[in-house]
Amino acid sequence: MNKQLDENGRLKHFLTIEHLSRSLLIEVLDTAERFAPVGQRAVKNVPLLRGKTVANLFFEPSTRTRTTFELAAKRLSADVMNLNIEASATRKGESLSDTLRTLEAMQCDMFVVRHQNSGAAAFIADQVAPHISVINAGDGRHAHPTQAMLDMFTIRRVKERFEGLVVAIVGDVAHSRVARSEIRALNTLGVGEIRVVGPKTLIPVQISALGTKVFHQMEAGIAGADVVIMLRLQQERMQSALLPSAQEYFQAYGLTERRLKLANNDAVVMHPGPINRGIEIDSVVADGPQSVILDQVTHGIAVRMAVMSMVIGAQAIAGGG
Ligand code: CP
Repeated sequence: MNKQLDENGRLKHFLTIEHLSRSLLIEVLDTAERFAPVGQRAVKNVPLLRGKTVANLFFEPSTRTRTTFELAAKRLSADVMNLNIEASATRKGESLSDTLRTLEAMQCDMFVVRHQNSGAAAFIADQVAPHISVINAGDGRHAHPTQAMLDMFTIRRVKERFEGLVVAIVGDVAHSRVARSEIRALNTLGVGEIRVVGPKTLIPVQISALGTKVFHQMEAGIAGADVVIMLRLQQERMQSALLPSAQEYFQAYGLTERRLKLANNDAVVMHPGPINRGIEIDSVVADGPQSVILDQVTHGIAVRMAVMSMVIGAQAIAGGG
């Protein structure tokens, strides 16, 4: 049984892309498509989650994910509470379970959780009262399912299909929850080929079992690609020196204009952020005409509105009511 789904097969929690069907992923994308115009309107909200309370629990730093979840909840007319972990009772030794009990006592309806430990969101989903939904906003190296879905939304917007696409994911795959969730989503949605590109020290040996082709040479890895997804070097998760230096990494794997010419002419460049300019990507490419990096951020709001409305069972479309 997939514990993300209720007895009717509807989303109850959103913890991982794993074991979700193609039709459910398409439903997320189609629902987000209906929410996207809300952000272009003078009055940027709909009343779908009026009276609901969303708690953002970010135990790790975040700019994009936390703020777009907050905006998404507000655009759905929910009340939003951002727990400041640095100034919370967690710093006085309160356990995660006791923090959850305390927030439950405030009648929260949804927890959006980012945590440094893989499995934290699933652990919380097991602990909470039955009426509460949990959304994983990134747990350790494990999963970042809403980032994967906003990336799928961005790809579908520009390419209008998944079938036949060649997608190259480049960089620190070893530490990347984004890469793991993207690979699962790309497989489920049926792209033509998924490549992972990077030095041996940053590519997990088991990654080909997920249906990917492994490349250790950047030029070969992005040749003929339709989509190039660059990943940040996650120095904070590296236990030991896995690279000679950032400069040498850029020389071997940095995305420059010259290298991007090897991809298809209409290839798009993506990055989940935050970007390390001059380490994994040249500024000229990050800010260039093939980059859709800021579109990814914008799409994150509509996709998170879609996921929040689906887990809470609000199936009416954007603009209704
Ligand atoms: N992509 C992403 O998760 O960015 P933040 O860490 O800023 O949320």
